Amino acid sequence: MGLIYAEQVEEMDVAKMQTTHVNEIQILNDIDKLATQCQIQKTPTDTLEVKLYEYVEHVHKHFENEERLMKKYNFPSYDMHKTAHDIFLSDLEYSSREWRKYGDFKKILNFIRKTPEWIVLHVNSVDAPTAAYLAQRMTED
Ligand SMILES: [Fe+2]
Ligand SMILES: [Fe+2]
Repeated sequence: MGLIYAEQVEEMDVAKMQTTHVNEIQILNDIDKLATQCQIQKTPTDTLEVKLYEYVEHVHKHFENEERLMKKYNFPSYDMHKTAHDIFLSDLEYSSREWRKYGDFKKILNFIRKTPEWIVLHVNSVDAPTAAYLAQRMTED
């Protein structure tokens, strides 16, 4: 069973944001599946670790793109939205560092397994109104 379903997050009015969310959810579910395999069947962790790096990079690009669009279209709640991203990133960075320091993927996996709740809440209550505003401004371009 997956960690999170694309249907749990609201559809974005900006296509690029929607695609990013769907892809990120896919990566999270891949990680969950690979991690379960590694933990139960004791398979090598290489593929899982590649996915974990992919996830970290994906989150950075995801947030950077939203922040770029918010700046471009003068989104009034930019600071609030950016702060929410920064807090998440600092937790992600902390667990990434622990993972690399100890060579133990469980350090980041434990964090990742707790993120779906945050993602659903953030996408539905912060990204959705942001996307609605951006889509409106984009049509005026
Ligand atoms: Fe987002
Ligand atoms: Fe966001």
